[in-house]
Amino acid sequence: MDLVPSGTLVVRVALAALVLLVGGCAWDGPMSTVVPGSDFARATLWLYALITWITAVIGLLVFVVLLWILVRFRARPEAPLPAQIRGHTLMEIAWTIVPALVLLVIAVPTIQLTFRTQGVAAPRDALRVTVRGWQWWWEFRYPDLDVVTANELHLPVGRAVVLDLEGPDVIHSFWVPRLGGKRDVVPGRHNRIVLTPERPGEHWGQCAEFCGASHANMGLRVIVQASAEFDAWVARQKAAPAEPAGLAAEGKAIFARSACVGCHTIAGVSGGVLGPNLSHFGGRTMLAAGMWPNTPDNVAAWVRDPQRLKPGVKMPDLGLTDEQAKAVAAYLTGLK
Ligand code: CUA
Repeated sequence: MDLVPSGTLVVRVALAALVLLVGGCAWDGPMSTVVPGSDFARATLWLYALITWITAVIGLLVFVVLLWILVRFRARPEAPLPAQIRGHTLMEIAWTIVPALVLLVIAVPTIQLTFRTQGVAAPRDALRVTVRGWQWWWEFRYPDLDVVTANELHLPVGRAVVLDLEGPDVIHSFWVPRLGGKRDVVPGRHNRIVLTPERPGEHWGQCAEFCGASHANMGLRVIVQASAEFDAWVARQKAAPAEPAGLAAEGKAIFARSACVGCHTIAGVSGGVLGPNLSHFGGRTMLAAGMWPNTPDNVAAWVRDPQRLKPGVKMPDLGLTDEQAKAVAAYLTGLK
């Protein structure tokens, strides 16, 4: 085999690298940081764009000057030794002052924005949501609405929301790129985010602070909807889930007599608080903090052997048979 890669191989590798590189680019992807969906995200994007343009211009200048120097002062045979310079007061002052000015231009708006987004006074009619980051899922409590849900946060478009961040176990970081920057969820500390979602849609989020084995499996979704749709969702959350029948009724009985009840709340059935509230589990689109679509098959696989599907998950193996898992899945996915 030839040790020097042939031309076609180089082209192929370059093309493969290009595909991988641009494959990560989606301007308006569900986790885009450049298509803002809230006032907070817009302010962050403005700063991001400012810094990007400043650094792009500097980078371009540096490379143009570098190229010019490489060509202009390249070694030539027989050329005499160029002038030897030691110390140049004007240049040294220039390359001290110019970077200091650049840093100042970046620092002033950065510090301003940091303080502005930290100290936002919440409008009086703001919706309040307590966000709790658990290993490895998200709990959302709406104290004024008496609604508790998990992993999928519903918000009405155009109304300010105050997210109070609480960490019951370890440090996490709440990050929904299209709605704004990351903010840490720290045990014993009260952090908050105030923002107004500006366009309806499904925005994806992800825990952004390493928090253990399934940190990467700690996703979330924010569903921003029209006010009337949000009210309808709230009404569904407050209503009692429909009484199951057939296989689902069997599943309910299995749920009620197994360890599930120690950790999960289902209105009218159990009151555990260590795991996600499942009262309206079937109304969520995803399972296990954004890992899979919430289908009966996936839920059955999950309750059958959660440890295999999500490394480190706190949910124990319940020792259910395949038939029992199917019944429990029918029950849970029916809880709309
Ligand atoms: Cu929670 Cu990383």
